[in-house]
Amino acid sequence: MDRIEQAWNELAAHAARLRARHLRELVHDGAARAQRLVLQLDDLRLDLTREKLDGPALDALLALGRAVDLAGQREAMFAGEAINLSERRAVLHVAARDPGGDYRAQGVPVSAAVAQALDRCLAFADAVRAGRVAATDGRPYRDVVSIGIGGSDLGPAMATQALAPYHDGPAVHYVANVDGAAIHDTLARLDPATTLVIVQSKTFTTLETMTNARAARAWLAAALGAERAAAQLAAVSTNLEATRAFGIDDARVFGFWEWIGGRYSVWSAIGLPLAIAIGGAGFRDFLAGARTLDAHFRDAPPERNLPVLMGLAGVWRRNAMGCSSVAVVPYDQRLARLPAYLQQLTMESNGKRVTRDGRPLARASCPVVWGEPGSNAQHSFFQLLHQGSDVIPVDFLLAAEPTAADPAHHALLVANCLAQSQALALGLDEAAVRANLARTGLDPAEIDRLAPQRTFPGDRPSTTLLYRRLDPASLGRLLALYEHKTFVEAALWQVNAFDQWGVELGKALAGALAPLVAGGDASGADPATAGLLAHLRRLRETP
Ligand code: F6P
Repeated sequence: MDRIEQAWNELAAHAARLRARHLRELVHDGAARAQRLVLQLDDLRLDLTREKLDGPALDALLALGRAVDLAGQREAMFAGEAINLSERRAVLHVAARDPGGDYRAQGVPVSAAVAQALDRCLAFADAVRAGRVAATDGRPYRDVVSIGIGGSDLGPAMATQALAPYHDGPAVHYVANVDGAAIHDTLARLDPATTLVIVQSKTFTTLETMTNARAARAWLAAALGAERAAAQLAAVSTNLEATRAFGIDDARVFGFWEWIGGRYSVWSAIGLPLAIAIGGAGFRDFLAGARTLDAHFRDAPPERNLPVLMGLAGVWRRNAMGCSSVAVVPYDQRLARLPAYLQQLTMESNGKRVTRDGRPLARASCPVVWGEPGSNAQHSFFQLLHQGSDVIPVDFLLAAEPTAADPAHHALLVANCLAQSQALALGLDEAAVRANLARTGLDPAEIDRLAPQRTFPGDRPSTTLLYRRLDPASLGRLLALYEHKTFVEAALWQVNAFDQWGVELGKALAGALAPLVAGGDASGADPATAGLLAHLRRLRETP
């Protein structure tokens, strides 16, 4: 048996041992356990004490990390080797947030180009904010519409909402869905004369984005004429030929490179709408926050390394505890879009069924990731988290200081967050439930009836991330933490976290189906599709 399989077997033995121990007991295992499972980087505290882990299990996970050469894989990424094997590309989003660095992509120096591109992009953002880059009638832009999808939307959209208190530039709106309702409802509220449209697409071929971009260009042209419309367009793309063909002047096109994947691109010019919202200085703080985490990921020993431990805990949840779903619950309203952002980051990266070199995986990879801000979530899906038949681990995120005015609200928010992780871990056993009900004077038959309904099994794991406040630097740090956690999980699962072939088939089929939807001959379609198309036509034809 090879070293890696041996390490997995070792892990299984610890899993069996720990499955037999309730978190109620584990959390009282003492200071030594807590010391291993609580980590801190500046004000950011990672608390894993409510995971079903202990020192020996952690040692087994660290041994698995050594067996797969996690450290070597990490160095290969930072060294700009072509670790995205299926696309033969380097993976250097870390270079995008370090303009003063000295990175190379497959041997070619890139940091000078990163610094130059960042200066140019932020100069444009600040000029838009100051009105030096203005609408064609000379007035400052009041609104910016960012059109993009997936990684060309989720990062800046999520971050713009997260950093609302720092937003002092023009209003920024995001349109992603090809559903015409998205662009229609956005543009309906805006004045074309003072709106800048930024088309965000690495490839500049994505169907959703190009369809929305054409609609926005037509909306501008209808009000301003074609020439002025073109002058109120900008683009972020690596495909200069296509941006030119679309009619966008090179002076308003901001580039990045093939070694930054879409879901890792918020640090590049794809962050332009965010930079327009919060300003160039704020955007540089955002990058600096991510850099502190990069340095930590690279330099801290594995057992004190936040993304390493989070990644190990993720693999533990999935493979040792058998959890196929994970909830992300920010007790931080402005992180409302974080779960959606993390869905792409983690599931597009690690939702894979073969290894980097094409062998079927021996065990499960990425779980389903979902979530909503607490405390709203408490009043929707927390019932299932506490008493449902599946155990779903939760990531809780919490700021010590509110970014919105009222401290009384924040105190209640904190109390709720702490209460939920406590309730999930400790639960309330039947004996305690019965005792509580007896104290209220209920008769024994009524207690028998209610006790099973009101019992909380507990033993449900969670991780808590606690930080001082949500600001550009702490947001950058948080996103980099999740990026590297995703990297660690990929390393352990031995998958390529940087390609996404799984999205291609649906794209190709949609292209082939579009003419059939428009009325073409559907006789060659499979029976289910043909049936749905026929019903669609009937509905359209009958008033
Ligand atoms: O959905 C697949 C995908 O390629 C994502 O990885 C990417 O973030 C998104 O489409 C958008 O791609 P582009 O920036 O090229 O429009």
